[in-house]
Amino acid sequence: MRAGIIGIGSYLPDRVITNTELEKTVDTTNEWIMARTGISTRRTAESHISSSDLGFEAAKIAIENANLEPKDIDMIISVSSSPDYTFPATACIIQDKLKATNAAAFDIQAACTGFVYGLTTAVQYIMSGQFKNILVVGSEVLSKMIDWQDRNTCVLFGDGAGAVVVSQVETGGVISTILGADGSGAKLLEVPAGGSREPASFETVKNRRHYIKMNGNEVFKFAVRVLEDCTRKVVKKANLNLSDIDFIIPHQANIRIIDAALKRLNFPKDRVMINLDKYGNMSSASIPVALHEALHTGRIKKGHKVVLVGFGAGLTWGAVLMDWNL
Ligand code: COA
Repeated sequence: MRAGIIGIGSYLPDRVITNTELEKTVDTTNEWIMARTGISTRRTAESHISSSDLGFEAAKIAIENANLEPKDIDMIISVSSSPDYTFPATACIIQDKLKATNAAAFDIQAACTGFVYGLTTAVQYIMSGQFKNILVVGSEVLSKMIDWQDRNTCVLFGDGAGAVVVSQVETGGVISTILGADGSGAKLLEVPAGGSREPASFETVKNRRHYIKMNGNEVFKFAVRVLEDCTRKVVKKANLNLSDIDFIIPHQANIRIIDAALKRLNFPKDRVMINLDKYGNMSSASIPVALHEALHTGRIKKGHKVVLVGFGAGLTWGAVLMDWNL
């Protein structure tokens, strides 16, 4: 018996922000952003929209795609890095919006690795037989957590949502998973204020401490290392070789990170999903949105061996290897 994805959905806000628009607000150029990140545009949600709103839209599509009703969902796991609140959990807000009244609901915080952590957690609950249909939602309104005056970060991130329904499957499904973390790197990528360490105050707001702060160079090196390492480990754990893998969906942070990791893996780029040029880094939403697009465009087919691999703040990392079953 295996667990697998039986439904998928994604949702992106309409508003597109181009690099040229960012040239008007920070000291940057379209050329710099394209050359250093590969990002051309990103989406942003309207001011009244939160992560649960985008997550709800993606979840509706995923549940419909699974031929289920919201009441068939037993558990909702939200993995947002930009949750609606510290508490209650964004999963509870999504549960209410969906009227998924039979679902338990909780959040996981693993930043950009959130979707891989959430999917892996869902797989365990399915395999234990405790739950039948689990919704995993990665939704982000990072535009509200970015310092739009900080050129080091504001060019990188975008808003969006992706969701999957995980259930028991007859054929295919998740073969192997790995998760990891190194909290000694916590300071490399963080939102310093707003929690119990630095509660919100006039000073924290004045000093812009509620926005994302990042050591780009260190995160870059970490990302390349774990993308390679995680991919190798999840493949080895399944007793497969890299040559058995049909398609890789990496976290979409920077094209140079993906290129460097692929070079180390000696894996062909035409079998890798890349859509960061359109959406930037959508944290926990990047992998499910990329997966949905890969399916839509026919790049993943039934029977393909697919690796999802993520990394992010924490520091965290993880990968899931699936025999694609849809
Ligand atoms: N436009 C123009 N110049 C910029 C810029 C921008 N948007 N952002 C940074 N710069 C400048 C820097 O200030 C620096 O200037 P200096 O030399 O005068 O100090 C210069 O460009 C080079 O900075 P550096 O950090 O070496 O650039 P880089 O090639 O490493 O690219 C990142 C910067 C942020 C794009 C890159 O480090 C990165 O992608 N890191 C990983 C980020 C990430 O993926 N985070 C999420 C993980 S889930």
